[in-house]
Amino acid sequence: MNDGPEALVRQWQERAERALERWLPPENTHPVELHQAMRYGALGGGKRLRPILVYATGHTLGLEPRQLDGTAAAIEMIHAYSLIHDDLPAMDDDDLRRGRPTCHKVYGEAMAILAGDAMQALAFWIIAHDHDSCADARTRLKMIETLAQACGSRGMAGGQAIDLRSVGRGLDIAELEDMHVHKTGLLIRASVVLAAMCAGQEAGGETLERLDRYARKVGLAFQIRDDILDEEGDTATLGKQAGADRARDKPTYPRLLGLDEARTLALELRDEALRQIESFDERAEPLRWIARYIVERRS
Ligand code: IPE
Ligand code: IPE
Ligand code: MG
Ligand code: MG
Ligand code: MG
Repeated sequence: MNDGPEALVRQWQERAERALERWLPPENTHPVELHQAMRYGALGGGKRLRPILVYATGHTLGLEPRQLDGTAAAIEMIHAYSLIHDDLPAMDDDDLRRGRPTCHKVYGEAMAILAGDAMQALAFWIIAHDHDSCADARTRLKMIETLAQACGSRGMAGGQAIDLRSVGRGLDIAELEDMHVHKTGLLIRASVVLAAMCAGQEAGGETLERLDRYARKVGLAFQIRDDILDEEGDTATLGKQAGADRARDKPTYPRLLGLDEARTLALELRDEALRQIESFDERAEPLRWIARYIVERRS
């Protein structure tokens, strides 16, 4: 490995952008406004954490980035759709995302809802049609099944439902963890698990089990850091409105535990994630870098 983990992560960020660009219909495709809204929601911003995890997991297991482009684009498509819907007035009612007006501010609520719907469908279409992945049809079916679970009512959409019904209620720590695992953790887990499936890892195998546990810890740590940044970050750096959780009376880790304890918990989860993959060789360095980055990031 010539490039250090950080350089690889930068390359994968750019690669994810190109993969999304390739799989999205061109903006002059009929119906034009819908395709513009989809492209606005997916392109030109974001940390691309989930694609990076896809590439980093594949790298660990000896895959070429080309074999992971479809999986990376599919998962980011689901994530970007979830952000478009998360920002709608019926949900978090936010005006700023990735440093720009939210999708519904530019294209209207109806078009933003439809863009999200279409991006979700496109994600599954990509995996079904991803012939570069080298995963056979049976494996791709399993990947589709895992992704569907991660973003459906027992995954992200379920977590969002819990989130919206929790406003103004004092959740206990187990309930808060359950909400975070569903709304954020399971899609992050899917990023790692789908890449591992693509590399031929079978359920029950030690490597997949370790990666799965790594990803679950990282996924929870990621949302705890998101809660912390909402409290202590600034709007310009975050690219989204700081202080929005408190303003909307959302239950969060810093509000339940205090900032210091929330930070400590995120660091513990990072260490637990790193322990899961300590027996892996140096090809796992990007996965280690990501676990550290997640709890230190400023945006
Ligand atoms: C924001 O996700 C929403 C959460 C699940 C916490 P990200 O922090 O990954 O957002 P982008 O993709 O970088 O904009
Ligand atoms: C969103 O969580 C999780 C999603 C499924 C999109 P948040 O509502 O905390 O995300 P931000 O802070 O708006 O990015
Ligand atoms: Mg939300
Ligand atoms: Mg939100
Ligand atoms: Mg948040």
